[in-house]
Amino acid sequence: ISDPLVIFTPSGKRGHFPAGTPVLTAARQLGVDLDSVCGGRGICSKCQVTPSYGEFSKHGVTVHDDALSDWNKVEQRYKDKRGLIEGRRLGCQATIQGDVVIDVPPESQVHKQVVRKRAESRDIVLNPSTKLCYVEVAEPDMHDPSGDFERLQDALRDQWGFEKVSADLNILQKMQPILRKGDWKVTVAVHLGDEENPHRIMHIWPGYYDGTLYGLAVDLGSTTIAAHLCDLLTGDVVASSGVMNPQIRFGEDLMSRVSYSMMNASGAEEMTRAVREGMNGLFSQIAAEGGIDKNLIVDAVFVCNPVMHHLFLGIDPFELGQAPFALATSNEVRLRAADLELNIHPSAHVYLLPCIAGHVGADAAAVALSEAPDKSDDLVLIVDVGTNAEILLGNKEKVLACSSPTGPAFEGAQISSGQRAAPGAIERVEIDPISKVPRFKVIGCDLWSDEDGFEEAIATTGVTGICGSGIIEMVAEMRMHGIVDAAGLIGTAGQTHSANVFADGRTNSYLVYDGTDKGGPKITVTNRDIREIQMAKAALYSGARLLMDKFGVEKVDRVVLAGAFGAHISTKHAMVLGMIPDCPLDKVTSAGNAAGTGARIALLNTDARAEIEQTVRAIHKVETAIEPRFQEHFVNASAIPNAVEPFPILNS
Ligand code: FES
Repeated sequence: ISDPLVIFTPSGKRGHFPAGTPVLTAARQLGVDLDSVCGGRGICSKCQVTPSYGEFSKHGVTVHDDALSDWNKVEQRYKDKRGLIEGRRLGCQATIQGDVVIDVPPESQVHKQVVRKRAESRDIVLNPSTKLCYVEVAEPDMHDPSGDFERLQDALRDQWGFEKVSADLNILQKMQPILRKGDWKVTVAVHLGDEENPHRIMHIWPGYYDGTLYGLAVDLGSTTIAAHLCDLLTGDVVASSGVMNPQIRFGEDLMSRVSYSMMNASGAEEMTRAVREGMNGLFSQIAAEGGIDKNLIVDAVFVCNPVMHHLFLGIDPFELGQAPFALATSNEVRLRAADLELNIHPSAHVYLLPCIAGHVGADAAAVALSEAPDKSDDLVLIVDVGTNAEILLGNKEKVLACSSPTGPAFEGAQISSGQRAAPGAIERVEIDPISKVPRFKVIGCDLWSDEDGFEEAIATTGVTGICGSGIIEMVAEMRMHGIVDAAGLIGTAGQTHSANVFADGRTNSYLVYDGTDKGGPKITVTNRDIREIQMAKAALYSGARLLMDKFGVEKVDRVVLAGAFGAHISTKHAMVLGMIPDCPLDKVTSAGNAAGTGARIALLNTDARAEIEQTVRAIHKVETAIEPRFQEHFVNASAIPNAVEPFPILNS
């Protein structure tokens, strides 16, 4: 008679094992993902399984009949003390007695899936950098001169298979009393190394540690720094928070910060200090929100543009301000928190994603990780809209990347009534097709401006200006309703008359809102504003179009708008303006903060780090500044939507 057949679900892995084999042993031999922190001692309960069919307990009694009576003592003790969900068994204690089907629930899997919200996005598979291991260490002996740490290393090798484990001084300093307090039983957090780096002990606790470990996924933007605090063992986001990047006081945009460092001897150092201080403030805040000890943060992943990357690392961004825009290093960077004066665990592993090129940073790499153009069957154009648009175009065959200098107009800067997205800013606009008068919505209020109660609802903030998404809708609506012509001029001959168009010096402007009788602003769109938007959108479109030329295509299958701003853009209006190539509207989607999502993927799955390193090396970079076709596209794209390109889907 052959040994009993064991089938694990959901993996489907199967094999024959002699009766009496513990389930955990069978799982390990088959490579089934079944967790364990205590190494099979019946302490941690991470190995829980659900027998769904078959004989499972000690004396061949079918589990559905009377499993409890056959539980061994360790399992019984665990159940009495801490309780077990009905139908669950400890995989390290339950033994196989006959043919069985064993279900491994998600919480017992190390590599469980962390589901993301968007239907089209891929799930994150958990594969954290750090593992908790309970070990029993040999006591010191007069006849054995080895140190406590060496015996801990031996225990980790014998009980967990770690050939070589190192520890920083901060661990050696506190290890001895902990070993004794735990009566030579301790839990250690081991940061898993690779071929080049040894495994490293990050934490040590006496006895069994029942807690978890944390990591940070940080999107370091030139305007804001946003962070997610994640539970490394469940993948859950415990807290999310953001702060303004304190470097703003040295310059609103990236180039003004590079100039500041060029013109001030210690400028780069000041900005490095500022961003690290801002970051530490954010980490304290997010740890307080999550109610956790910052010392339990053992891993941090950062994504940022090249200038932020250099300033955060304390590298002068001088070379990034001039051709040929050489990065100090384009590869991924691995450091420890103490190297960057971060106030989390001093030995915490810090990982910066690789940069794609001097203008296409680790943030674009993170977008590529999140949106995976290199795995897409159809041709996808991904634009991360900010002061510098970073653009990716590709499919399974190849991926191209470039950046395009859109300037800050899309963020409301350099627009006469422009402002950042904040309460009071106009964010949505509709122009009446008959009267040509606008109605709008402001951030912080659900009512349209022509609805009853609007003035009362905005009494505290008032209407303060127009933000980036508002100005895009405004200009597109003006074009759709004949108030602006294809060249971007307001109220020219042949254009539809509107009472809101008025002469403003040598050109015309369009009145959006007059709050002067209430002490508020008069909000208008000037011909210069339209010009700024034309320049910005022409830069964005030309970058995308140039990549399409390089790819040898006239159209793309779908468009993904990334970035916080991308999340607020109306796709219809973006296409009316000719910001993005002509494409069915239902194929234009927003990925939200894709760079932040990419950072979270890299934090929770260390395999994804190797994956993006490889992907980035294969991405072909296109430098817009030296491509003559870019200028040609730019001139054509200055018209609304475009001087030569037909935009057939838009017009249909
Ligand atoms: Fe820890 Fe089973 S492995 S209780």
